[in-house]
Amino acid sequence: MRTFAAQNFYIMASIKCVGILTSGGDAPGMNAAIRAVTRAAIYNGWEVKGIYRGYKGLITDEVSAFKTNNVSNIIQQGGTILKTARSQEFMTPEGRRVAYETVRRHQIDALVVIGGDGSLTGARIFAQEYNLPIVGLPGTIDNDLAGTDTTIGYDTALNTIMEAVDKIRDTASSHERLFFIEVMGRGAGFLALNGAVASGAEAAIIPEICTEVDQLEDLIKNGFRKSKNSSIVLVAESELTGGAMGMADRVKKEYPGYDVRVTILGHIQRGGSPSASDRILASRMGAAAIDALLDDQRNVMIGIQNEKIVYVPFSKAIKDDKPIDRDLLNTLRILSI
Ligand code: F6P
Repeated sequence: MRTFAAQNFYIMASIKCVGILTSGGDAPGMNAAIRAVTRAAIYNGWEVKGIYRGYKGLITDEVSAFKTNNVSNIIQQGGTILKTARSQEFMTPEGRRVAYETVRRHQIDALVVIGGDGSLTGARIFAQEYNLPIVGLPGTIDNDLAGTDTTIGYDTALNTIMEAVDKIRDTASSHERLFFIEVMGRGAGFLALNGAVASGAEAAIIPEICTEVDQLEDLIKNGFRKSKNSSIVLVAESELTGGAMGMADRVKKEYPGYDVRVTILGHIQRGGSPSASDRILASRMGAAAIDALLDDQRNVMIGIQNEKIVYVPFSKAIKDDKPIDRDLLNTLRILSI
């Protein structure tokens, strides 16, 4: 391993070829990001290598040269043209050694990794072990990376949730039912809270405040039925919340009398053409990844704060401590009377 790191020293001096991969759960806007990274790199005179199936593709050597036309006509497509995976092998030192051999063989001098928490954790370890310049882009619908106001795919997923809830509301109100709608988030409540505000739901049950209050008890005790016969509650997927099924089971046992239904939105939240906002974010962040490498930035994630591009060290981005907006939670409570 030491030998590789030592051989790699010259790479710091100049980058001629950048590899791109997408990893973990896909997110709308990943293609826009791939396009931006590819075109910004070529604009600066660099070669680009597309790595298929995330880190797995580095282990199985699935690498192709990318020209500008490889990324034509993809900005509007959901998913990722590079495919994605969650590689168990890359989590082992041996797997990363094989991956690094592929990097060397293809003369890749730096990597741009587009993905969420797990993908950037992998990037951080790989970068340290092999002294390889890596820049991350936050590609996840969960919006759970710290140091960035928003992540690529989050806005599109929120819009998908809002449209789905609008439809469920029609039937909820016709039947005068209480609906628990489970949304994704990998243990974070951003989609649930913001989705609830956007769709005019009565409440959001989120993991961040599970240990502080019994959110279900709060909801029922606050008399959410004072003025309405139907109700919509968004529940973040999480062991802490117990998900929408867990909530419905509790209501049946503890508060019989409600006509309860459950909808789990599932992977529909990850698909679809990216919103304008996600396309713009992904384009800006993709170009910024190349700027960062030109600026000799290493092992940082590109973030956005107050509309400005920022560099966030991997260690900070993956810390799992991004706070939810308590004021927004309060606004939701006020508006659901
Ligand atoms: O991290 C993105 C995400 O969609 C999470 O919200 C969810 O928990 C997870 O991925 C689902 O992963 P998979 O598609 O592997 O089931």
